[in-house]
Amino acid sequence: MDKVSFTQMKDGTKEEYEFLTAHEIDHTKHTADRLLQALVDLDESLSGYQITRLGHSVQSATRAYRDGADIDWIVSALLHDIGDIYAPYNHDEYAATILKPFVREQCSWVVQTHGDFQMLYYGHHLEGFDQNKRERHRGHPYFEDNEVFCERWDQASFDPEYKDLPLEFFAPMVREVFERTPYDPEVIRPGAREPLQNTEIAAARSE
Ligand SMILES: [Fe+2]
Ligand SMILES: [Fe+2]
Repeated sequence: MDKVSFTQMKDGTKEEYEFLTAHEIDHTKHTADRLLQALVDLDESLSGYQITRLGHSVQSATRAYRDGADIDWIVSALLHDIGDIYAPYNHDEYAATILKPFVREQCSWVVQTHGDFQMLYYGHHLEGFDQNKRERHRGHPYFEDNEVFCERWDQASFDPEYKDLPLEFFAPMVREVFERTPYDPEVIRPGAREPLQNTEIAAARSE
């Protein structure tokens, strides 16, 4: 079979749905490659900043790596703005939805709400923006993690002089994360908090 014969889902047979499921599993194996390609496509999107959106993504991930953060943080930093392509009004939620089955809850929550936290840095310059929008999340267990994420990695990563690691450096990490079993409780670890900065690992990585 290379194609099902039904035209309405309700008419599909068991064999056809088994065929489609196998097809889908094969398709999901290439998620990491599609995401890496999407990051390259981000590069072509209009910026106005001193660096491109891809440059910003890679720089955020490079800073996470150099801070000694773990793979969940690094991949989350790399992909945090991937929603810019199709969801300019909720790009943070879009990116978090992609990450949610594959990274720690702590990281996907931070990505999901980073837009509210970022407003601290520019909201006061623009009409109708709430600079303190992050306050609605005050008291959340990962609130402080998002403060660090935005201060050290997101808002800081618009520097054309910064020495970024190449996207290829991060590709194996993206593949590793998206090859995980989706929603694996040992990955999601609700409530667990891993530091964004680890000075020992950071020192080892700078050697
Ligand atoms: Fe963002
Ligand atoms: Fe960003």
